Amino acid sequence: MCGIVGYTGRDNARDIIIDGLKKLEYRGYDSAGIALLIDGEINIKKHVGGIENLENLIAGENLYSHTGIGHTRWATHGAPSDINAHPHASEDGRVAIVHNGIIENYVELKEELIKKHHVHFKSETDSEVVAHLIGIYMQESDCLEDAVFKAMGRMRGAYAIVAVSADDPDKLVAVRKDAPLIAGLGKGSNFIASDIPALLKYVKEIYLIENGEMVVVTPDSVKIFDENRNPVKRDVFHVTWDVDAAEKEGYEHFMLKEIFEQPKGISETINRRLDEDGKIKLDGISLTKEELDRFSRIYIVACGTAYHAGLVGKTIIEKFAKIPVEVDVASEFRYRDPLVDENTLFIAISQSGETLDTLAALREAKRKGARILSVVNVVGSSVARESDDVFYTWAGPEIAVASTKAYTTQLTCMYLLGLYMGLQRGTITEEFYREFIEDLSAIPQKLGDYLKKKGEIEALAKLLYNRDQVFFIGRGLDSAIAYEGSLKLKEISYINSFAIAAGELKHGTIALMEPGTLVLALATQDFLYEKMISNIQEIKARGAHVLSIAKEGNRAIESQSNEVIYIPPCRDELSPLLSVVPLQLFSYYVAKERGCNIDKPKNLAKSVTVE
Ligand code: G6P
Repeated sequence: MCGIVGYTGRDNARDIIIDGLKKLEYRGYDSAGIALLIDGEINIKKHVGGIENLENLIAGENLYSHTGIGHTRWATHGAPSDINAHPHASEDGRVAIVHNGIIENYVELKEELIKKHHVHFKSETDSEVVAHLIGIYMQESDCLEDAVFKAMGRMRGAYAIVAVSADDPDKLVAVRKDAPLIAGLGKGSNFIASDIPALLKYVKEIYLIENGEMVVVTPDSVKIFDENRNPVKRDVFHVTWDVDAAEKEGYEHFMLKEIFEQPKGISETINRRLDEDGKIKLDGISLTKEELDRFSRIYIVACGTAYHAGLVGKTIIEKFAKIPVEVDVASEFRYRDPLVDENTLFIAISQSGETLDTLAALREAKRKGARILSVVNVVGSSVARESDDVFYTWAGPEIAVASTKAYTTQLTCMYLLGLYMGLQRGTITEEFYREFIEDLSAIPQKLGDYLKKKGEIEALAKLLYNRDQVFFIGRGLDSAIAYEGSLKLKEISYINSFAIAAGELKHGTIALMEPGTLVLALATQDFLYEKMISNIQEIKARGAHVLSIAKEGNRAIESQSNEVIYIPPCRDELSPLLSVVPLQLFSYYVAKERGCNIDKPKNLAKSVTVE
């Protein structure tokens, strides 16, 4: 993780870098730092905590510069502290670097640097070895790209690194291996960053840097080189988002804004995949009947919230297309020698497209011959680039660490894929297909209307926020939503929450039910409604406080519950798109009541590029 920004050009580097770092705080916020080239020297300022601490540190200082680099950190090696904050400098202070990723062989490099070059390490980080290595190679020639290239040859692991040198000024040299990196193309000013939002205010034309590449940036040029240092010609990528997409637009938090953007994200994701006749078009994705019939199994592999979207995907694809689907968390899939071959369709789901666990699982499946289809939000991300086909979610940039609109657009893709596969294979009728698409297309409107009732959820959160533990239960598709609801609550409110299939409660977890224990019970599946009512009765009998989520009209549940949240009526298969929203809002308002840092919860980061 970590966010990096580099700038060289006509304007004040300090302000541009600080501004860019603020847009990358979703990547980590344990510490922040900046290195600026001023009068032939490198001036480094860094501070533990968020960017505001760094801003306070440098407020009032005259740090005018035209070239610099900055970093916002998610700690891996070494605790969050001023010393461990980036940038790190070489022994002579003439080189500074920022790093996102992990240098796996840093222990051996560190030993070598200490023994052979008598280097003094200041921090506990793996990253500091990079600064020292480049510093030593700079002694051989004053060319920064030569030194960075040599250093790159010594490092193993995942990294995006930007280096500056006082001896080769007005230049940024960056390298990338398994961590995102882009270069922004301005006029008389050029940029480097981990992600597009950092640069949106300044440039719309970027280069996506590929694995193994080095990019050399000066105020007037951006040159890319491959791993053998041959020049690379890259097409310019035109960013279509506007600055507002990465701003709060009057909402108190990005999370709330993104919850409210869900109707738009869902309809965008649907509309981009429907042709004039209302049929699903996959455009470049080839999933013919023959190909689909060849797949003996589908794996859906993802992490966190995206994994929960996969749980819904399994039910939908199995039901519609009648192909067995396994869902796995990416960090487990890779190490269990999964049964993957050329008759396997591997579906990776990832908002960022940069999650290292997901990427590693994808590569493992690819190595074994699987066909790779990814469901990704960030265009041009690593997962997208390494897949055979990409089914984009059109959620727009998601900034809050807790994922909301990415999730519901991922669910939308699962429905579209399931329907498409089902029709191709003849396992659903044309009539069912048409009716389902109509019902799916009606969801954004229903959701928009529902969101007007946010006050109801806010009131419930005010009533129930003060709990130490919360359980989420549901059956069928509701159990997948229970997992997602529980994750949302724990990640932003720090309440110990736990999700379990309602029918499984009695096999152990019910032992934890006490008078007053808060249970959120999802009961939106008509065919499981009565079974769910029985499960609710079992916990009520133990004194639990039950907040139920049911479809409008199912009033029988009121007598079994302390409170009920009603979602608009819809077919059972589509209820996840509606029932998850009150859970997102509940988590949001509970976290707000508890005074938590909603957009940047402790210990987390949005894009996890370490294993
Ligand atoms: C992190 C984020 C989660 C996210 C997960 C997968 O853990 O905090 O919100 O669901 O990564 O991210 P991806 O970008 O692959 O969907």
